[in-house]
Amino acid sequence: MKVLIATEKPFAAAATAAIREVLEAAGHEVALLEKYTSAAELHAAVADADALIVRSDRADAAVFDAAARLKIVVRAGAGYDNIDLAAATAHGVVVENTPGQNANAVAELVFGMAIMAVRRMYSGAAGTELRDKRLGLHAFGAVGRCVARIAAGFGMRVSAYDPFCPPEVMREAGVEPADTIEALYAGNDVVSIHIPATPETRGSIGAALVGSMPKDAVLINTARKEVIDEAGLSEALAARADLRYMADVRPDCADALQAACPGRVFFTPKKMGAQTAEANFNAGVAAARQIAAYFSDGTTRFRVNK
Ligand code: 3PG
Repeated sequence: MKVLIATEKPFAAAATAAIREVLEAAGHEVALLEKYTSAAELHAAVADADALIVRSDRADAAVFDAAARLKIVVRAGAGYDNIDLAAATAHGVVVENTPGQNANAVAELVFGMAIMAVRRMYSGAAGTELRDKRLGLHAFGAVGRCVARIAAGFGMRVSAYDPFCPPEVMREAGVEPADTIEALYAGNDVVSIHIPATPETRGSIGAALVGSMPKDAVLINTARKEVIDEAGLSEALAARADLRYMADVRPDCADALQAACPGRVFFTPKKMGAQTAEANFNAGVAAARQIAAYFSDGTTRFRVNK
């Protein structure tokens, strides 16, 4: 079978080599499309592919229309909002992700951003420490759990809001369940967002939640820009000069926020939470193994479409 690795933002070279090794050992052929700049390039490359590995690359209906032989797409990562699941299903294509494989990389970046914020953007001005501060996790999935583990080392008090996670799972991890999303935002000095972008979560964090945060609070978003109501966020940051927003998912209003809130907002130039050698290797090799398993015995353990 022919497996296309299509990554607009490439994996580290060692990860790509390891993916190739896994697939070739299973008897598959590997094609590589990196740093492409147009959908047409992807459409041409996918035309004769039986399987596809992507990251945040957009796999919309046009991609599935162009991929007559495609049987499986694996998103090497967690969030699959970049993939049109209905179109995949209509074309009989299995879609999988690799949950947890890049979670530690994202969680470490959360702390990079938290320290940057409380140390006043490394300006040298007196800041604060993370120890004894309250950290609220907006969702307790793979990334949230890694953040909680690291937060324990910083001596933070951690709570989480996640209607899909039983409270006892949180308590076993030393995390206090928050009853409501409002309580999470109003009761924590640092809130870290780890929800996926879905119809229910898009635009769900706005002026009311951000504006309810305690004095000098920091909101960190390494998840998706779409979960933020940007007008509401801008309103809350304008109304409260003590609030800070740090994001690995650059908002559309980034330039305006940077101009309006100097020293209080920070955005990475390009999403980089999962951009480590280790995360690339783990997620990429997991994707390769899942594809090999699918072709050898039909396994679809990580399937996300129906
Ligand atoms: C994910 O959903 O796994 C992360 O957002 C990482 O995305 P990336 O592979 O595009 O860096």
